[in-house]
Amino acid sequence: MKKDISEQIQSLRQHIRKHDYLYYVLNNPQISDQEYDRLFSELKKLEQQNPELITPDSPTQRVSGKPIEGFGQVKHSIEMLSIDNTYSADELRDFDQRVAKGLGTKNYSYVVELKIDGLAVSLRYEKGLLVLGATRGDGSTGDNVTNNIRTIKAIPLRLEDEPSDVLEVRGEVYMPKKAFEKLNEEKEQQEQQLFANPRNAAAGSLKLLDAKTTAQRNLSFFAYALGQTSRPFAKTHYESLEKFKKIGLPVNPNIKKAENIEQVIEICNQWDKKRFGLPYQIDGMVIKIDRFDQREMLGATGRAPRWCMSYKFPAEQAKTKVLSIDVQVGKTGNLTPVANFEPVLLAGTTVKRASLHNFDEIDRLDVRVGDTVIIEKAGEIIPQVVEVKKEFRSKDAKPFKPPIKCPICGSKAEKDPEGVYVRCASSSCPAQLKERLRYFAGRDQMDIENLGPALIDQLVDKGMVKDFADLYKLDIFAIASLERMAQKSAQNVLDGIEKSKSQTLARLVAALGIRHIGIQNAEILAQQFGSIDEIKKATAEELSEIDQIGPVLAKSIYEYFRNGNNLKIIDKLLAAGVNPKQKQTKQSDKLAGKTFVVTGTLENFSRSQIEQAIKDNGGKISSSVSKKTDYVLAGAEAGSKLDKAQQLGVKVINEQQFLKLIGK
Ligand code: IVH
Repeated sequence: MKKDISEQIQSLRQHIRKHDYLYYVLNNPQISDQEYDRLFSELKKLEQQNPELITPDSPTQRVSGKPIEGFGQVKHSIEMLSIDNTYSADELRDFDQRVAKGLGTKNYSYVVELKIDGLAVSLRYEKGLLVLGATRGDGSTGDNVTNNIRTIKAIPLRLEDEPSDVLEVRGEVYMPKKAFEKLNEEKEQQEQQLFANPRNAAAGSLKLLDAKTTAQRNLSFFAYALGQTSRPFAKTHYESLEKFKKIGLPVNPNIKKAENIEQVIEICNQWDKKRFGLPYQIDGMVIKIDRFDQREMLGATGRAPRWCMSYKFPAEQAKTKVLSIDVQVGKTGNLTPVANFEPVLLAGTTVKRASLHNFDEIDRLDVRVGDTVIIEKAGEIIPQVVEVKKEFRSKDAKPFKPPIKCPICGSKAEKDPEGVYVRCASSSCPAQLKERLRYFAGRDQMDIENLGPALIDQLVDKGMVKDFADLYKLDIFAIASLERMAQKSAQNVLDGIEKSKSQTLARLVAALGIRHIGIQNAEILAQQFGSIDEIKKATAEELSEIDQIGPVLAKSIYEYFRNGNNLKIIDKLLAAGVNPKQKQTKQSDKLAGKTFVVTGTLENFSRSQIEQAIKDNGGKISSSVSKKTDYVLAGAEAGSKLDKAQQLGVKVINEQQFLKLIGK
């Protein structure tokens, strides 16, 4: 029987690995997301029932639940060198001459690759298993980021048919443009500082102490070099890349061999034009000598090899004119200045406007209406003013003054004591209401189809909607009476609204627009509390004890639910038939009302599994031990939390006792 299950588990893992490879490496999924999820949850279920069969290379074990205190240091077995840069075809030709001289022959070829704009990492596989992931650091020592590396689905936890004692693979961890945009959108909604470009976002995400957050960042990876190997792997770079692909490592598909430097230059020029169409950012090309024996002959100068060169693209800039500066009102009242330009083509799209972020930034740049400015795309994505051409400024151009009133409702604008923002403090500002409604109906929140921005404008302007709950009272006649609406389109809007009534609890919580709470934090709240009533009742202390929430978010949530107006709107929403679904994983109520703190290393459960098991049986999890803790579940090497439990006389149990509690 056990053998059967073990075989079943093996086969599921193999299937999942294969589909991970097809999806993340070959970009060629062959099953639907639902089918994939089904395989995954089946594996999870079997592993939960047979925890002794869990192995670290199982696809379920990518995320380890526990945040770490800090990264250890890793000394690289072979130094991670950097690359010298060139900026023109002639500089590339000079490089080629040095190569020819160094080798004493013209008999060599190049491999030309995209220079992926992310961060370099080294992955160490021992007998095919991923045992270490490290950042480049200063080239000789980097950070041990294994836990975070394991969450990147493009990186295999185990190689196919590669039993070498040691195989080190180097490559670039990067954040695709789409993931970057999504992350920044989420950050904006939570009023957090945005990442300037995908490279910073990738680096920031890989260096988080909590791998759970890294796992949500959609990082990806391309392998492009070898590190230490315990036996000869290949004779040429091109051959090594081919082998990488065979053993399951993702290799960029746009890699080309070139027989001479003119071919190299041709390829570089092509990509300078085509680069904006790629789903990830590149900042140049990397040109490498193909044969390893020739690389050896050429050697390195101090920090960079003589067999490798990068060709950097010029940053795309455009010159345009500021036609006007608008002030936009955000959903919590933030006033953001936005510059409108004479439309101009930049890095593949026409740019008409750009956020100036805040009034301090306007001051710093001294941007004025009518100015000629240079714009760039930060990370090729977000247009930004980088320079004002003051020599073209007309004499009567006046400095831009921060508003003293909200441009929409006319209420007094106040400087936010916490930072650089100016905000409209009115609770009845229609511009804020429109933004809140747009957010409420947005794709990651209540996802109300057909309720677009233009319709929301009309609903607010006509006084038909004064809060979220009013949406659920609209009837077909009211909607059909609006501009550009007819019976059929009005019915579609109503259907969208009706459907949203049964969105999940997490989506509803996110939709409320609580400061700093986007969908990810909302999921955590929904998981922990299970209903809006329970979230409402939570004390600030209980909230801040939740892993990943922390005091700032806890305060924001707590205060939101102490505001009478907010509570009234929630009551109205529920009365109007909004009935959020909670994902059902519940197995029993055996732990109802009990709070657990988990500490130390467990034998049979990963951290996320034990947390799930506690929640599935009605219990709660806290990260610190207090008198209110009912049980401390302690594994091997439990530290200060166990001491504290003993001091406070909190009951300490082990895994076996826990399993008994839930009747297993
Ligand atoms: S090869 C000694 N190949 O560029 C050569 N690097 O500016 C080792 N990079 O630190 C690196 N794409 O982070 C190589 N196709 C590629 C690359 C690449 C991006 C990065 C890498 C390196 C940096 C040097």
